[in-house]
Amino acid sequence: MPYKAQKTSPVSTTALTEMKQKGVKIVALTAYDAPTAALVDEAGVDVILCGDSLGMVKLGYESTLPVTVEEILHHVKAVKRGVSRALLVADMPFLSYEIDVKDALRHAGRLIKEGGAAAVKLEGGMEMAPVVKELLKVNIPVMAHLGLTPQAVHRLGGYKVQGRKPQEAEKMLTDAKVLEAAGAFAIVLECVPPSLAREITRKVGIPTIGIGAGAHCDGQILVVDDMLGMTESSLKFVKRYADLRPQMAKAVSAYCRDVREGGFPAPEHEFAEAAKG
Ligand code: KIV
Repeated sequence: MPYKAQKTSPVSTTALTEMKQKGVKIVALTAYDAPTAALVDEAGVDVILCGDSLGMVKLGYESTLPVTVEEILHHVKAVKRGVSRALLVADMPFLSYEIDVKDALRHAGRLIKEGGAAAVKLEGGMEMAPVVKELLKVNIPVMAHLGLTPQAVHRLGGYKVQGRKPQEAEKMLTDAKVLEAAGAFAIVLECVPPSLAREITRKVGIPTIGIGAGAHCDGQILVVDDMLGMTESSLKFVKRYADLRPQMAKAVSAYCRDVREGGFPAPEHEFAEAAKG
């Protein structure tokens, strides 16, 4: 029987584990503003991530590295206003959690307390297990992120598929198990060969959410602007469900032409004069 999204009961981290156990796929998307979050939530998405992809998709940065806690917080607050059912996860920006666990607690705490997120996501393998444990001690659930971790773009030498070499694959599986043992409630697997994603998915009890990781993950996530065709991205793993950018460009060109040639505003866009007498 197809899974029917329940409009009323909010999605919890434990509900995601139950979905894995029942074989129900988890649907996740990013969102960065209230109206998009409301649209995505009403369409039945289970998890909304206010990701640090914000930096590249909305703020015009060349990578996710410049994104700050203040910037994510500003957008998480907006997303929160649009969400009623989905689990809202906030991304922890580069260097907001790696240097000092007290920073991690403070920054994650702000995303939950001020931003209204229900959980945070952070990138990295077993070295992040102590941070995951500390966050859990103060009741902040953590989504982990393995494979192509964009905050490590300079170490990785670019945005490349990860885990193709046997040692890399073995390390990623160990990382996943250690992060699960530390208490992470889910793991994003980004740009990973499908066979490795399947093995990790089978060997951990927590849900895996894939992006460029094939069909065997417990769920899928995409950047909403990519799947709606609002970005110029031509990433292999993105399926475009709409092609909005050319439509938007066409509409704006038509507006420019109308204003210049007197086609807008027309009489129907004008307010009536005050009645005389
Ligand atoms: O920042 C982001 O949007 C992400 C997802 C693509 C997983 O990390």
